[in-house]
Amino acid sequence: MFNSLKFKIIITAFLIISTIMITDAWRDIKRSEQLLLNGQREKAVLLSERIAHGIMELMLQNKWQDLQAMVESLVKNAGELKEIRIFRPENGVILVSSDPLEIGAEINKEAPGISGKHEMREAFIVEKGGEQYVLKLSDIKNQPVCHKCHSPEEEVLGVLHIGISLSEITKTIQGYKRKYLTEALVGFILIAGAFVFVVGVLIDRPIKRMTRTIRKIEDGDLSARMDEDKKDELGLMAKSFNSMLESLESAKQEIELCHTEQMQRAAKLASLGEIISGIAHEIKNPLTGISCAVQVLQSEMSEDDEGRMVTSEILNHIRRLDTTVKALLNYARPKPPCLLSLKINDILEKAVFFVQPEANKQNVSIETEIEDDIPDVMMDPDQMQQIFLNLILNAVQAMPEGGNLKIEISVKDYTQVGGEIAGTLACEKILAVTFEDTGLGIKREHMESIFDPFFTKKSKGTGLGLSISQRIVQEHGGEISVKSEVGKGSIFTVYLPIGQSEEQ
Ligand SMILES: Nc1ncnc2c1ncn2[C@@H]1O[C@H](COP(=O)(O)OP(=O)(O)OP(=O)(O)O)[C@@H](O)[C@H]1O
Ligand SMILES: [Mg+2]
Repeated sequence: MFNSLKFKIIITAFLIISTIMITDAWRDIKRSEQLLLNGQREKAVLLSERIAHGIMELMLQNKWQDLQAMVESLVKNAGELKEIRIFRPENGVILVSSDPLEIGAEINKEAPGISGKHEMREAFIVEKGGEQYVLKLSDIKNQPVCHKCHSPEEEVLGVLHIGISLSEITKTIQGYKRKYLTEALVGFILIAGAFVFVVGVLIDRPIKRMTRTIRKIEDGDLSARMDEDKKDELGLMAKSFNSMLESLESAKQEIELCHTEQMQRAAKLASLGEIISGIAHEIKNPLTGISCAVQVLQSEMSEDDEGRMVTSEILNHIRRLDTTVKALLNYARPKPPCLLSLKINDILEKAVFFVQPEANKQNVSIETEIEDDIPDVMMDPDQMQQIFLNLILNAVQAMPEGGNLKIEISVKDYTQVGGEIAGTLACEKILAVTFEDTGLGIKREHMESIFDPFFTKKSKGTGLGLSISQRIVQEHGGEISVKSEVGKGSIFTVYLPIGQSEEQ
């Protein structure tokens, strides 16, 4: 759950939203607090001016005795105004105070804002007994009208000190804090809820649907598809996934078809092999019997007996039949290749040498082109020669009017051969032997059958040549490919893997 994408997105979003909302709420609280406190400071300045004015009036009316009573009544009647006192600037002795017990005592000079020029001072906030106060000090100046009672030398007659309690404001600020925090919390819950819903609907639900589809596919149901109705990135992803599935499915069908064909071919070959070996045995035994009987007859004949010519002809035909039966048996029960590391050039040369008379007869020229430094390759020399003989003979027989057969031996990189060949051989370097003739070519409809056993277009052919050649090449870990164009000629290529050790 903690590793899920949904969880990670939601937690990140929660952290961002909560940080923004808490910072915002805190800034609002601080701004409101500052506004309220500034208001109280201004109030203290105004109050201080009005009280100073009241004191002046009483003084001018020579009613300074009423000053103490005025100060006490002011504090009693004004809710927030908690203290008023007037003290002498030079010694700090309190002359008038809202708390009569303070009269005659000295003001605490260490208290904030007491020393210095009072008229210049701002109202300031202090904490006393766990409660906050705004204090304001102002000088009561010795003006000319005061000179009839006070010496003109005195510059300041007294210092007015008032204190306004901030308890109401503190309560209001607490109220604001609660309000802002509640609003932030409600906002957070609403935004977070909406976010969880949106993530769930837009991301989590489609991803869960996709996961379910993938599970179905894993369980083998390749027909399962993702919903493509969404126009967003997930919809695009679903589309690409579905098209990938289509390709996979068609590739799977192709592989299955190919596999079935291969199985059928293998089954056909196996049953053919069994039939052939059965028939060959049935023929071989009576053939040996006939051969023995003829030889007995021949031995009983005198040297100049005319019948000897007949028996010799019979024995010749029996020998030919025996060779064919052996070839059939060889096809039905092939020997595994006996691999040796050899030069392919030598084997090719021998094969060309054997076929040369036949080629000359048909006016076919054979030209070989062999790359330098062809490495040795693991092969069974007899079987390889059999393949080359068959391919060269096929080419010669495809050129009844004469022509040219070009045989090329080269080393190819796996990237230079077709993907199918490179896939089958699975090695980096590949030896390619190409037989290119200028013969009749192969019709398109015959292309698929030429490697089938007994497929032949020749009156004297067995149709086993290419079938045996293909099997031998495959047993060597290689492959045969063919390209042909009717009227132009055919190209047969034998591919063999290079670099396999003798053990392999
Ligand atoms: N180079 C070629 N040009 C044209 N057709 C070819 C060529 N090679 C093979 N074929 C065709 O493929 C058929 C099968 O060849 P394959 O070698 O298997 O048998 P075959 O040559 O007919 O008989 P055998 O090999 O027993 O003499 C041939 O009959 C021929 O029609
Ligand atoms: Mg042949």
